[in-house]
Amino acid sequence: MKTEILSGKEGIERAAELIRRGEVVVFPTETVYGLGANAFDKDAVRKIFEVKGRPMDNPLIVHIADIAQVDELACEVSEQARKLMRAFMPGAITVIVKKSALIPDEVSAGLSTVGIRFPSHPVAQEFIRACGVPIAAPSANTSTKISPTTAEHVYADLYGKVEVILQGGACQVGIESTIVDMSTDVPTILRPGGITEEMLASVLGEVRTFSGKIVVAKAPGMKYKHYAPDCEMVVAENVRHAADAYTESEKRGENPVVLARRDYLDEMAKIRKVNSIDLGEDDTAVMRNIFAAMHKAQEKYGFIVCQDFGDKGVANSVMNRVNKASGGKRV
Ligand code: TXA
Ligand code: MG
Repeated sequence: MKTEILSGKEGIERAAELIRRGEVVVFPTETVYGLGANAFDKDAVRKIFEVKGRPMDNPLIVHIADIAQVDELACEVSEQARKLMRAFMPGAITVIVKKSALIPDEVSAGLSTVGIRFPSHPVAQEFIRACGVPIAAPSANTSTKISPTTAEHVYADLYGKVEVILQGGACQVGIESTIVDMSTDVPTILRPGGITEEMLASVLGEVRTFSGKIVVAKAPGMKYKHYAPDCEMVVAENVRHAADAYTESEKRGENPVVLARRDYLDEMAKIRKVNSIDLGEDDTAVMRNIFAAMHKAQEKYGFIVCQDFGDKGVANSVMNRVNKASGGKRV
């Protein structure tokens, strides 16, 4: 199969036509690119799992382009859940609610809930509207690989496995949506993202962060290895440690690289010269650039030393991804 990157009205029409025929299509969102299929068509949904090599017990998020579609997908939506949707949709949030009978088990992996997301990216919205059905979609990467934030990332990973990738430029948020479980008594963040705990609390009053202490993993995806670059990656305690790890790696002949914010790279330059990828000036820029930087690093280099961005605001969400990518390895 030949893979094409398409844009404009014609691209969207072609993509929507494929969806209506029960095929899968890649589309951009503001968080990461998604690999979509008609959420009501279980055979089409199965193809997503095949293309990604994803275990069938990991459920998919369903994407909508009109808030009214929520009542088609859910059977029970609390006033709190509606408040959350009003506050942050369209945007980088996924809200988990009790699913309706229309959602096949292939989408929910047998759970009684469904994750609903209304992306803000204009191409995503046009595409979903043109399809006329909600779109089930995980991130458009081979399972365990780094999530794609450009059409070119997807092309490199899934060439020959999908017919169409819709072009939407570089994703502006850069990491996957914040997932909030509203199907239980206390709203629980299952995956941190661009919408932070503080932002959620300002609307809900109280939210709980999934701390790892809860024994039953509610986001089934939590148990899987994620976002692994092809080469080893470590998180450095501070700039000194980063410089030392870099030097060690260089001695091993690995061709290392440092991923960090600009101010950190300025500090590093005072210690030693390094290959680096500048993630920008602030945490929002780091979030936007982190996956693209990992893609570039694994292509060009053999060892990644990453800054510890801390746990404030979106930096906490970035570290969630970085810790998974590094397998928790720290220096
Ligand atoms: O930003 C995003 O959320 C992107 C774009 C494409 O929308 N999508 C995305 O999907 O990141 P995926 O499949 O890569 O990650 C979805 C996560 C998985 O870890 C899955 O286990 C969890 O959401 N999930 C989906 N439905 C769930 C449910 N009903 N209950 C608990 N967790 C759920
Ligand atoms: Mg994913």
